[in-house]
Amino acid sequence: MNFLDLPQTLSASGDIRLPGSKSISNRALLLAALADGVTEIRNLLVSDDTARMLEALRALGVEITESGAGNWRVHGAAGRIPVRRAELFLGNAGTAFRSLTAVLALAGGDADYTLTGVPRMHERPIGDLADALRQLGATIDYLGKTGYPPLRVRGRREEEAGGEQGREAARTVKIRGDVSSQFLTGLLLALPLMEENIVVEVTGALISRPYVEITLNLMARFGVSVERQGWQSFRLPAGARYVSPGAFHVEGDASSASYFLAMGAIGAAGSNGVRVEGVGRQSIQGDVRFAEALAEMGATIETGDHWISARAPSAGLRGITLDCNSIPDAAMTLAIVALFAKGETTLANIASWRVKETDRIAAMVKELGKLGARAEAGADCLRVTPPDAQNPLRPAIIDTYDDHRMAMCFSLASFALPLRINNPECVAKTFPDYFRAFARIARPAPVIAIDGPTASGKGTVAARVAAALGFHYLDSGALYRLAALAARDKGVDDRDEAALAALAAGLEIVFLPEGRVLLNGEEVSLALRGEAISAAASRVAALPAVRAALLFRQRALHRAPGLVGDGRDMASVVFPDAALKIFLTASPEVRAERRFRQLREKGLPADRAAILSDLRARDERDRSRSAAPLRREADARLLDTDALDIEAAVAQVLAWWSEVASVAL
Ligand code: DC
Repeated sequence: MNFLDLPQTLSASGDIRLPGSKSISNRALLLAALADGVTEIRNLLVSDDTARMLEALRALGVEITESGAGNWRVHGAAGRIPVRRAELFLGNAGTAFRSLTAVLALAGGDADYTLTGVPRMHERPIGDLADALRQLGATIDYLGKTGYPPLRVRGRREEEAGGEQGREAARTVKIRGDVSSQFLTGLLLALPLMEENIVVEVTGALISRPYVEITLNLMARFGVSVERQGWQSFRLPAGARYVSPGAFHVEGDASSASYFLAMGAIGAAGSNGVRVEGVGRQSIQGDVRFAEALAEMGATIETGDHWISARAPSAGLRGITLDCNSIPDAAMTLAIVALFAKGETTLANIASWRVKETDRIAAMVKELGKLGARAEAGADCLRVTPPDAQNPLRPAIIDTYDDHRMAMCFSLASFALPLRINNPECVAKTFPDYFRAFARIARPAPVIAIDGPTASGKGTVAARVAAALGFHYLDSGALYRLAALAARDKGVDDRDEAALAALAAGLEIVFLPEGRVLLNGEEVSLALRGEAISAAASRVAALPAVRAALLFRQRALHRAPGLVGDGRDMASVVFPDAALKIFLTASPEVRAERRFRQLREKGLPADRAAILSDLRARDERDRSRSAAPLRREADARLLDTDALDIEAAVAQVLAWWSEVASVAL
């Protein structure tokens, strides 16, 4: 399983240039393909959804070439579909699937197409669109479940397409508007292919209206003006034909903007906040109104023609109740912002979430629940209650359901605590570069990684540095010791990797002050330090599955205000981005002497010679193992403590830290 571990984010500031809008990119590609003339599309979004549309249009015989730097030239086929038989795979791209279904169904003639998608696409309804297209003479067969993709679409029979009589009086076609606005969008985009006078009547209240506005706006840019009465009736003049506007610039994606604006709104008060470039006052996308929702929650929002900025309010954010019908996608972002507000937030009128990439209402409730947040769903609404002292959040592993927006939304929860996001690559659907953009403006809690061999004194030094800075402290060796101890208690063979990994994953550990540790409710502080457990820990720690099982547990401590971690692989594996890396060591003789004295102080049995040879053997095992071997990282500073006492070592680490912190933080 692929995953991305996010440390706690302290704040965010900076500028983000947004990728092109998905909704506009896919509509513009289709319109340019149907238009008369060549269109140069600039700033086209490059993502899974647009790749599916591009592939499909090329498979249909439309010539499309990349003319460099995000610009594409589409040679319009002037209302004809050059390839009359094709099998199109459209992934989970709802806009591409719905609009191509309509276009191919109305293409006429001997056409015969099959349209398929990923399994989830085959669970997303399309029956209402098919019913509308059948009224216009299209032949559409369901190849799986009735009302859902995959589909076979054949050319419209001309005799049903109106004839002479039909050309004089307008034909009326009815379509449902309350399940997905993409049905109406698909139909409207395709209608100019019929070259007839047609009136579309929407039944049921039209949802997600701003997306239909985008459709009408772009159709007009390509020369077709639709007359509408309210949002229930749309009239296409006979003889309407698409004509290329020449060059067409795709504005930034307003839904993608929501994550960065949210970062600005959640982040530390007093910071400059976050500014997105590519959408603003001039935008034709409804999701820019997400910024108004943030303003209602108290965020400071500023807007220019082509940019929006968001800053955190000094008084904190407050919960709101909002009808989200017009911003269904960006509203998901509000569900996470709600965790940082005072009072509940209720997102109403979001039934369409249930038929998107996943059932987004159910997914939100489940994953927010893993974080310990209280989220309750109604049929078409979601209520989120922020955490408090009685109901704190906890680090969690978040599933994303192959839904790009789940992955992007939950990245914002990192402002509260560290978390793991499974399958983060699903962001490629609309924003392949998302997590790099996130990392560019997010400031994570800092880590000081201290690695070194056993008995070098790094544990004591690390704990004191943590105390001096007020940071959290991770004794990663203790985790391997705890795994070894649990294995001994449970009688698990310390070579049985799978069983040990399962055991390590399920350990219930509580670290108490002064180095005390509870394992599954029992105090094990002393038992943990015995030489037998040290030896067993070093064997257990060599097993990659055990290391993997303990990884998130360690990263879950990467919290505000900072963390000092000590071990063998802090700098190399667990916190490769640590702000300060130290390799703390001493000669085997000095370390053996220290360990000897330590054991004696604790009243445990100790033998100098045995300790030295055992320590050498352990060094060798830690160094030579294939999984995370002990070694000094190239960017780690060497701290040799042969001639240093603890105080001097701590002072050196703190001096290095102020050096690093003054430059980087
Ligand atoms: O630091 P320590 O002696 O408590 O560590 C106990 C064992 O765990 C030691 O043999 C090495 C192993 N270990 C590891 O492999 N990786 C870490 N990050 C920490 C300890």
